[in-house]
Amino acid sequence: MSNPLRIAVAGLGTVGVGVVKILETHKDLIQSRCGRAIEIVAVSANNRVRDRGVDLTGYQWFDNALDFAGLDDVDVVVELIGGSDGIAKELAQKSIASGKSFVTANKALIAHHGATLANAAQEAGVAVRYEAAVAGGIPIIKAIGEGLAANRLNLVYGILNGTCNYILTTMEAKGQGFDEVLAEAQRLGYAEADPTFDVDGIDTAHKLAILSSVAFATETDFDHVYTEGIRRIEAVDIEYAREIGYRIKLLGISRLTDKGLEQRVHPAMVKVEEPIAQVEEAFNAVVAEGDFIDRTFYQGRGAGQGPTASAVVADIIDIARGHSGPAFFVPADQLTKAKPVSISEHEGAYYIRLHVQEKSGVIADITSVLKDHNVSLDVMLQKGHEQDGSVYIVLVTHKIQEKVLSEALAGIGALSSVQEEPLAIRIENL
Ligand code: HSE
Repeated sequence: MSNPLRIAVAGLGTVGVGVVKILETHKDLIQSRCGRAIEIVAVSANNRVRDRGVDLTGYQWFDNALDFAGLDDVDVVVELIGGSDGIAKELAQKSIASGKSFVTANKALIAHHGATLANAAQEAGVAVRYEAAVAGGIPIIKAIGEGLAANRLNLVYGILNGTCNYILTTMEAKGQGFDEVLAEAQRLGYAEADPTFDVDGIDTAHKLAILSSVAFATETDFDHVYTEGIRRIEAVDIEYAREIGYRIKLLGISRLTDKGLEQRVHPAMVKVEEPIAQVEEAFNAVVAEGDFIDRTFYQGRGAGQGPTASAVVADIIDIARGHSGPAFFVPADQLTKAKPVSISEHEGAYYIRLHVQEKSGVIADITSVLKDHNVSLDVMLQKGHEQDGSVYIVLVTHKIQEKVLSEALAGIGALSSVQEEPLAIRIENL
């Protein structure tokens, strides 16, 4: 039997404790699968005295995780602290430079510094692994990087944020507004006290930037992910979407074309019969399309202690088995810099919801602006009366370019009868 793989765990929050629990519970199973034991030798967290429900007495305790880099008896540093910079980044750099492999669940770190860390790991001859950073328990990094390695990929998209999917499906099921559902999700502990990263699409954008790199062998480019969240979606949009055969999902979509790399995160209308539209509550799902395999679909729990720790431990097992290939499945110096494609180049159909005064001539004014911009409509609905004498008008356009839509919406938004900024949702026939 080979020597044990010795690991140090930085961060003992929900996921860190989950990693300790799995390594304890499945000690023998994991040893038989790897042909060697995996031993925790050191741990680090802010609060030493807190009862975490696991026995930590057998491990060396460090107040400062950066001290892991100086330990000769550690092979792998597991970072579960979070944040794109600060201690997480420093720990990654120091661990790699001191010849230790690095495993993380930190999507912000990999989205911002993935290519740099991959290069450093290649130079140092160590592994960097981050399966838990994208879609929690769904082994999507391995599925794309290894399982689909025979294919040229052209499209990857998915529901990558469980909080948003929970909010949207609850809004649909209960007919409640965004604020009400978010408040309830926070009360139940499903949503963070500060929900910004989740509901504004940033968490999805981090994950999408990583997926793009794995799928297309491009350097992670978070700064060029177009990002829109779900705060402006109202219960009426979900209801109107259903009337025209769609569901609203927050999607991350990445496509490599002759024009360059399109990466976008935004609420999207997807046909109700599509598998992605059936993904409910806090589940995640990913679709990856390759030239020989065609379309593949993965679904599972994207967050939570068990699923996330399961992915972290799978990475550790991978290293224990001696799999130390490149972080993005191609040598780091072969990752290319893709030309970003601006969202204004996007072409598609759009759902538009307008909140207008109920008076004569309003529709004529709106259609006149649309005519000026050569925007042709597929559907037009006028919905109900609000008590204040306003109504909703719902339009669905034929396929147009986004920059044309933006100009038309600016014109419509400037009409005195239009009471709030028009809302547009992209209709996706992926
Ligand atoms: N906050 C994320 C979500 C889970 O709601 O899906 C961690 O990536």
